[in-house]
Amino acid sequence: MKKLAEFNLSRLVALAVAGVFLVGGDMAAQAAGRAKGIDARLQPLPDHPPLPTDNPSGTNVFPSKMDAKQELGYMLFFDPKMGGDASIACSDCHSPKAGWGFNDPISRGYPGTVHWRNSNTAFNSGYLNKIFWEGGTTSLEAQAPVAAEGAVAGNGSRDMMESRLRFSPEYVKRFKEVFGTEWPNVEDAYGAMAAFERYLSQPNTPYDKFLKGDEKAISEKAKTGLALFSGKAGCIQCHNTPMLTDEKFHDIGVPDAPEFEENGMQQVTYRYQLYAKGSHEEDYRTLKSDPGIYFKQKREKDKGKFRTAPLRYLKYTAPYMHNGTLFTLQEVVEFYNKGGGVDRWGNKSKLLKPLNLTKDEQAALVEFLLTMSGEEVKLPTPTLPGYAAMTDWQPKK
Ligand code: HEC
Ligand code: HEC
Repeated sequence: MKKLAEFNLSRLVALAVAGVFLVGGDMAAQAAGRAKGIDARLQPLPDHPPLPTDNPSGTNVFPSKMDAKQELGYMLFFDPKMGGDASIACSDCHSPKAGWGFNDPISRGYPGTVHWRNSNTAFNSGYLNKIFWEGGTTSLEAQAPVAAEGAVAGNGSRDMMESRLRFSPEYVKRFKEVFGTEWPNVEDAYGAMAAFERYLSQPNTPYDKFLKGDEKAISEKAKTGLALFSGKAGCIQCHNTPMLTDEKFHDIGVPDAPEFEENGMQQVTYRYQLYAKGSHEEDYRTLKSDPGIYFKQKREKDKGKFRTAPLRYLKYTAPYMHNGTLFTLQEVVEFYNKGGGVDRWGNKSKLLKPLNLTKDEQAALVEFLLTMSGEEVKLPTPTLPGYAAMTDWQPKK
């Protein structure tokens, strides 16, 4: 317990006197090996995401070697067998070349559709408790079927996907190795995908190193940005914890995506979503803006609210916001500098006010945001198993 040994009371008292706010419970861990004067709501990312007991896998994350389950998930993540017409894989909308997301403001959709929101990065998603822009899903194991089977994403039928896996000898072998089953099960495929997504983690960004006490890990300009982030600019009010999200829901007034007005296909998807999510007829016919978590309980006070977005790996995941309407981090900071967007529903967060940041301060804030991204992680497309008719590889009765 080197960390505990380093902990010394006089330093803690000094920090407390300096006005540093330490939340109870985990004081030793926070005071140990930590850069001075940092708001305690900012925390480095743990070395690996929490692992669910019902879907254990290795604690290893990129760039160390994958374990067998993660490697199986890696193949499945890139394999169009896990989609409706075997032409679209998770990686088509979560491409390593696009920060494990999709470059267009609005994601592509299943063939014959467009999506209706920006594709989140799948990177670091293992650390999230609330998944999707609406934060409505609580585990990667539960998220994968929504993606593989949802009409505007994978649109896969379980039985068909499972059948495809069962006629791929390489998968039969690997599923048996990892899950001990004679035949691959689609549920296990989702578990393996989740394990692979947990491997896509980056706990040692310059920002994390700085928080752990390496003063030189980030530039002076970024340190100015950090002070603004947790001070004058007030970002920390919503963007806190290791993932830089309170995982609460706020309306910040993001502008409407122009696609809604310009693209018939977009209208199709949007109306479909309204219908599928059980909206009443008036909304179905008249709503023009994405009402966010209103979809869940249909409460007026939820209109326009989205999960606070995590801020890691942003360097590679432009454009930003649920509909990709802000193209650069400069634009994001300008947006907040004006006090956020329009108050469309009367729900806009009272925490947003014009910030009066100078150009230099805005640039410092951007520089700071970039410290939460390490090197770009680009894995190649793995070799994907082919099909075979049932012959001698067939499991014996
Ligand atoms: C056709 C494009 C498409 C495909 C295919 C697709 N996704 Fe997504 N994914 C998206 C979009 C768009 C979102 C955001 C949707 C929303 O929040 O309403 C998303 C969100 C996610 C998130 C949420 C991350 C976060 O920050 O909360 C994860 C994880 C994810 N997808 C994983 C997967 C996996 C695993 C697969 C394959 C089984 C997959 N996706 C297939 C487009 C796609
Ligand atoms: C009131 C809470 C709140 C405050 C304060 C706040 N944000 Fe946000 N932030 C959010 C929410 C909610 C979203 C997602 C909104 C959406 O997509 O509609 C978001 C999204 C973002 C994104 C986009 C991330 C992505 O992956 O698309 C960035 C970058 C960002 N915020 C940075 C900041 C900065 C910098 C500040 C301070 C100047 C700040 N935020 C202040 C709640 C907040």
